Amino acid sequence: MSKCRICGGEVREFFDFGRQPISDAFIRPSAIGTEHFYRLVVGFCTSCTMVQQFEEVSRDRMFPTDYPYRSSGSAVMREHFEQIAERYLKTELTGPDPFYVEVGCNDGIMLGVIQAAGVRHMGVDPAEEATAVAAAGGSRVHVGFFEESTAVGIRASEGPAQLIFSANTISHIAYIDSVFAGAGALLDEGGIFVFEDRYLGDIVEHTYFDQIYDEHFYLFSVRSVQAMAQRFGFDLVDVEHLPVHGGAMRYTTARAGERTPTPAVTEWLAKEREQGLADEATYKDFGARIEANCDNLKSLLVRLEAEGHTVAGYGATSKSATVTNYCGIGPELIPFVCDSTAEKQGRVTPGSRIPIRPPAAFSDPYPDYAVLFAWNHAEEIMAKEREFRAAGGKWILYVPDVHIV
Ligand code: TYD
Ligand code: ZN
Repeated sequence: MSKCRICGGEVREFFDFGRQPISDAFIRPSAIGTEHFYRLVVGFCTSCTMVQQFEEVSRDRMFPTDYPYRSSGSAVMREHFEQIAERYLKTELTGPDPFYVEVGCNDGIMLGVIQAAGVRHMGVDPAEEATAVAAAGGSRVHVGFFEESTAVGIRASEGPAQLIFSANTISHIAYIDSVFAGAGALLDEGGIFVFEDRYLGDIVEHTYFDQIYDEHFYLFSVRSVQAMAQRFGFDLVDVEHLPVHGGAMRYTTARAGERTPTPAVTEWLAKEREQGLADEATYKDFGARIEANCDNLKSLLVRLEAEGHTVAGYGATSKSATVTNYCGIGPELIPFVCDSTAEKQGRVTPGSRIPIRPPAAFSDPYPDYAVLFAWNHAEEIMAKEREFRAAGGKWILYVPDVHIV
């Protein structure tokens, strides 16, 4: 049992992944043995329903200045952010001198679109090397963590923001009360604080257990976000389900009483009740499916190895840390993983220590099988690597269950 970080209620454990590394800590082979591990246990709050981890990894360990993740690595994601930026330029950022703040701007995939439109903006992100890419493109960035003091400082120098936006970041922040306090200090009266994150409903429905890793301290649902927003003086006024990352939700919040909630909020609350997202039994079942997927993946790889087949991994994702470490999969079963991120190449996967090579290594020669760790980019990657299948190669997927395509 643990205490809820949001409401202080009782958090009941539903899965223990044991010892896990920092999911984005892609270290050089020479640093093997110096990794930091922690215990990854997840549970749900019996009071506000927020799904959360029991143990917190310090933010400096998770997001060092050389944090290797780059948001711009996927064409689909670039288009996703362009579209949402274009929408806000027509809706929220239309006043005489609008101000846009982005929490976790990374390499400026979205910030750059706002900047190109000539709108005043500020990206906040502790990943110095990633934000340097955004700054080199002409975007204004503040290198640091977003919390109440950061927001108060930005408000003092820039004035209020009409839109605070954040993608795949708010759920990473255990001390979320300070984030909302910051939004409260920085937001214009009628402004909105919007964040999109992996959606719990999809994770449970499709057994996307690898979405559970250090950075995803919380797994949001409409119900838990609504309760959280209210607790911190905000209303949840709109939700939009998004196809990215296997299923995400965009939550729009505003100061209490400022905006009328759309029917989508009520509709999704009803859907979640139907799915049983607040019921303990749902998580017991989810846990059993996690065990089954891991057992099946491991035995498939052991069998392929025994039969003399060659296997590679594709996509050195953060998600894959949970899979390889929980299933006990290392270089003896998957000798290397390909990834297009230059910052990850030549390094090894966290904990499981599988060497990471550039995508060119994939066809040199093609392996018989490839485990698609970046399954959320399946369409994009399978199209890019269509020669692999033409040459007789087979993809291995482990969600929603273990299957070969
Ligand atoms: P991502 O989807 O962001 O997942 P996570 O949040 O779990 O890290 O990561 C995708 C990874 O896959 C990233 O390291 C880049 C890599 N990748 C390729 O190697 N080739 C591709 O075509 C795409 C789209 C991604
Ligand atoms: Zn709670």
